[in-house]
Amino acid sequence: MSGPNKRSIEGKHVLIAGGGKNLGGLLARDLAAHGAAQVAIHYNSPATRAEAEATADAVRQSGAGAHLIAADLTSAAAVGALFDDARNAMGRIDAAVNTVGKVLKKPIAEIGEAEFDEMSAVNSKVAFFFIREAGRTLAERGSICTLVTSLLGAYTPFYAAYAGTKAPVEHYTRAASKEFGARGISVTAIGPGPMDTPFFYPAEGADAVAYHRTAAALSPFTATGLTDIADIVPWIRFLLTEGWWMTGQTILVNGGYTTK
Ligand SMILES: NC(=O)c1ccc[n+]([C@@H]2O[C@H](COP(=O)([O-])OP(=O)(O)OC[C@H]3O[C@@H](n4cnc5c(N)ncnc54)[C@H](OP(=O)(O)O)[C@@H]3O)[C@@H](O)[C@H]2O)c1
Repeated sequence: MSGPNKRSIEGKHVLIAGGGKNLGGLLARDLAAHGAAQVAIHYNSPATRAEAEATADAVRQSGAGAHLIAADLTSAAAVGALFDDARNAMGRIDAAVNTVGKVLKKPIAEIGEAEFDEMSAVNSKVAFFFIREAGRTLAERGSICTLVTSLLGAYTPFYAAYAGTKAPVEHYTRAASKEFGARGISVTAIGPGPMDTPFFYPAEGADAVAYHRTAAALSPFTATGLTDIADIVPWIRFLLTEGWWMTGQTILVNGGYTTK
């Protein structure tokens, strides 16, 4: 058996796609603070580099190793290279988390082919090949988690290309958990509610933002009314550790915004 035996984050080597900022950035800091030994932090655009470097610094201040990897992941080769680079930097990978995503809020009638292809590439294709490479690469008793969206439980217009291209991840997760289970690898997906990050606001008008601030059952008990990334990170940490018995499932974590 390779890798640490404990269902704990201590000593683990973690790869986070989209780990430089927002949800992924907080996750990188949190896992290092809880004892992860190595964190490979992927980021995509040059504009994210400064935030990714700040995240890497914070990870190192917690005593963990931090490795920055820049890549557009919309080809299978790029995802393969990400796992190769992360394994070369860390020696092995125990847990792999994919936070990569792109949102589009638009009526179906107005969505063009190039727009659909990009949504499909970022939300579905990256997720599929991330899970494939994780299955090929992870140490025994490893964990894989993909970020999807609570819109998978919503009956709503305008998010067909976003939720529709996140939806296949639910089945990739189900199938991968069955295929990788023989090596003790747990595979899950988490769908947060609308989160208070720069990802959320540009896609929404002021009225929609105001609605979403009140839409969760627990909204009145939060600072913004929205899902706080600090309320998602512990769920991911749990699934990577003591929560390993949950596998094959997509969990909506949203303060009571949508259900399924
Ligand atoms: N914020 C919300 O309201 C919300 C709600 C539910 C679910 N989610 C999901 O949660 C995840 C994290 O979202 P977040 O709010 O933390 O926003 P975020 O930081 O913007 O996360 C999206 C990530 O995807 C990366 N990315 C985009 N295109 C890419 C590509 N071609 N190749 C590789 N990486 C690419 C972005 O990198 P660059 O910015 O460097 O391009 C960014 O790191 C996403 O999957 C999102 O769909 C978000």
